[in-house]
Amino acid sequence: AAAEKGGFSSFMDKEIHDQPHAVGDTLLGRTDADGRLVLDDLRIDEAVLRTVDKIIVVACGTAAYSGHVAKYAIEHWCRIPVEVELAHEFRYRDPIVDEKTLVVAVTQSGETMDTLMAVRHAREQGAKVISIVNTHGSTIPRESDAVLYTHAGPEIAVASTKAFLSQITAAYLLGLYLAQLRGNKFPDEIREILDDLREMPRKIQTVIERGEYVSAVARSMKDATSVLFLGRHVGFPVALEGALKLKELAYIHAEGFAAGELKHGPIALIDEGQPVFVVVPSPRGRDSLHSKVVSNIQEIRARGARTLVIAEDGDDAVLPYADEIFWIPQSPTLMSPLLAVVPLQIFAMALATAKGLDVDQPRNLAKSVTVE
Ligand code: G6P
Repeated sequence: AAAEKGGFSSFMDKEIHDQPHAVGDTLLGRTDADGRLVLDDLRIDEAVLRTVDKIIVVACGTAAYSGHVAKYAIEHWCRIPVEVELAHEFRYRDPIVDEKTLVVAVTQSGETMDTLMAVRHAREQGAKVISIVNTHGSTIPRESDAVLYTHAGPEIAVASTKAFLSQITAAYLLGLYLAQLRGNKFPDEIREILDDLREMPRKIQTVIERGEYVSAVARSMKDATSVLFLGRHVGFPVALEGALKLKELAYIHAEGFAAGELKHGPIALIDEGQPVFVVVPSPRGRDSLHSKVVSNIQEIRARGARTLVIAEDGDDAVLPYADEIFWIPQSPTLMSPLLAVVPLQIFAMALATAKGLDVDQPRNLAKSVTVE
């Protein structure tokens, strides 16, 4: 087993280090000689994809958070409404699904029973289903109309890492493909976004190389009993995923919030010494989200929070309010989740390790849940 871990202390550690490849390999071979996207495994009539008027992503756990991230990108690029639904909630609420609905099932294993049942329900209602799957030969792609494989390689650790990054990547490819097909974007625009995506493996590698500082901070916090995570826009699902990793691995209370929601309730939780991660949007992004999140950091720090800030290289605005800063390379806003989640994965792994826990096999959890 030690050999399979390739010299890493755990499968999770190895899989975190695999992430640049997981993203790079998921991008490989998706364009033709003219640079146009071609998704080979996508055997749904183009005419049908042109008439889609709604997308519903169904998934569980980490895969569902990748769907949350993808929603921001697909709506922005394609102007199609995207809902993200936990697969086990989907069919029980009598969802509005018809021939013009595209259901996207996201799953690492391809075997999650909740997700499979959602796929079956969607197809019974006449929807087309595309699954985004990592495991070849699994059940969900067989029961879907089309499949887009992530090329993350086998993921052994129960807590998902590289599958998450590759799911975001594949969902982005699907979004760009739809934008190309439906004429929402000029070929040049799509090429530029693909170029941005192709820059990401190198940047992810940079974040991993900065991991030792994250680990040291995590070790110093091994007695923490509660950690909060804040994010906004695509940083919101990143916060949710960071909290999930910490619950799964370190067995401590962790919760993610949309930063804008802070004032509507969660700020009451803040008192002296409460650790709070804040995922800060790029200062170069639009909509003044950056300054709003910086104000949030200021507000919680004034109430005693210990602020653990994830910010872009060069973002000096966070310096006065951050107790710890985990820098990530600059990237376009929609690409930033591929970077911002990495310190949160490393943090959860290092804190759990410092507590003497098995990060590959957390208690009570299974890698793939094949019961409803
Ligand atoms: C289990 C795992 C999670 C995973 C979820 C969905 O609960 O412990 O890590 O995110 O299933 O799995 P899937 O294989 O469908 O992505």
